Amino acid sequence: MFSKITENHHLAAALFAVITAVYSGSLLLGSLAYAVVMAGFLAHYSGRLPIVVARIRSWYIARQGTPTNFKKYDIIMGYDENGRPQLENLQSLGHSFVVATTGFGKTVWYQGMLHWLIETHTPEELQIYISDAKKVSFPIWSRIPHLAAPIAVTKDETDRMIDMLLAEMERRTALFNLYSSARLCDNIQKYYEITGDKLPRIMVIFDEKTDAIESDSDTDKKLITLAKLSRSYGFNIFVGTQRPSAKSVNGELISQLVTKVAGYMPSAREYGVVTQLPKEIYSRMTPTPGRFMVYTPGRQWRFLQSRMVPDSELEKRAARVSRGHTRPRWGIPVAPRKNALAETMKLSGTMAEKMAVVQAWANTLDVKPSIQQIADRYGVSRPTAKGWKGRLK
Ligand SMILES: Nc1ncnc2c1ncn2[C@@H]1O[C@H](COP(=O)(O)OP(=O)(O)O)[C@@H](O)[C@H]1O
Ligand SMILES: [Mg+2]
Repeated sequence: MFSKITENHHLAAALFAVITAVYSGSLLLGSLAYAVVMAGFLAHYSGRLPIVVARIRSWYIARQGTPTNFKKYDIIMGYDENGRPQLENLQSLGHSFVVATTGFGKTVWYQGMLHWLIETHTPEELQIYISDAKKVSFPIWSRIPHLAAPIAVTKDETDRMIDMLLAEMERRTALFNLYSSARLCDNIQKYYEITGDKLPRIMVIFDEKTDAIESDSDTDKKLITLAKLSRSYGFNIFVGTQRPSAKSVNGELISQLVTKVAGYMPSAREYGVVTQLPKEIYSRMTPTPGRFMVYTPGRQWRFLQSRMVPDSELEKRAARVSRGHTRPRWGIPVAPRKNALAETMKLSGTMAEKMAVVQAWANTLDVKPSIQQIADRYGVSRPTAKGWKGRLK
């Protein structure tokens, strides 16, 4: 009966007129009439109530979801129970372990992070490497200018990607060594203070590490080396897996992955023994996609809901940021495409120190660099470049 009345605007208006009239006679009767009419409205709209609440909630999260007070290299780890974004800084995260059974939100977590980072950081500030063994999740990002290598979709390509990262780490070691006899130059911030050159931070994502790297293979060993040594060179490695206890995830590697982002997994062993989660935390875990237990250095374990960006919004942003850019290709130098350092880099130090830098760069290339490439890159004359080329191994 009430639903019919509420559908009819004239009747609704008449009802309110009656309520007003009754109110003017008696407060009690007026309130009663009002309560009856409201009950009718609620009965009519109750089916839609959850939708309305969900809309208000998602509007609230979207509004809160874009922090304005973020610093460089902040990422959104997720939202707390009040929908407030929780920021963490890549510079203090170290490497991260992202675990959850298939279907509980690892890839969505990565996508949300990429969506945020490519908007707030230039390719000179942040370079991104991705290993995507599933081949289907990340192609939308394949032309963003932040990529220093193509997205690696096979085991061979993942191996190649790790080689590039090791070479870049060596190159940075050589750069630090140019200064480290006089100054303490052991991380990228110090290097920047001394030289004024900003090396881009490097983020490496292994969406499903277990599918991309054979256990105990050479690639696996190289990844462990990289994880052990690369932190102070500005690297953040994210290793994702659905089964942390599988033999394929080496204990030595896990010990380097200090930040933990752990979603639902059916076995307590995966939580406790392998991911080193305290029982009082994982006993409160529920099988909810996007719900993660998060640990970051210096803070307590906490529950966060991940940032889920709708596909259409991911596509839109990827397309906009990619505009005018082509896919990177294998074998093109790792140096960022627009970095001043890459255009000309004045080398100082002894001949041996200079050659260490040039050699580290040459190691990243498929073929020996040409005399002209050397001359352009280091701002030296062709005869000097020729001499250097002759010394390259
Ligand atoms: N933060 C979230 N909020 C709501 N649903 C989510 C969230 N994260 C993931 N999901 C749901 O879980 C599904 C699987 O997520 P996905 O990231 O592909 O899992 P995984 O990579 O771990 O296999 C998504 O398609 C989505 O429906
Ligand atoms: Mg996935």
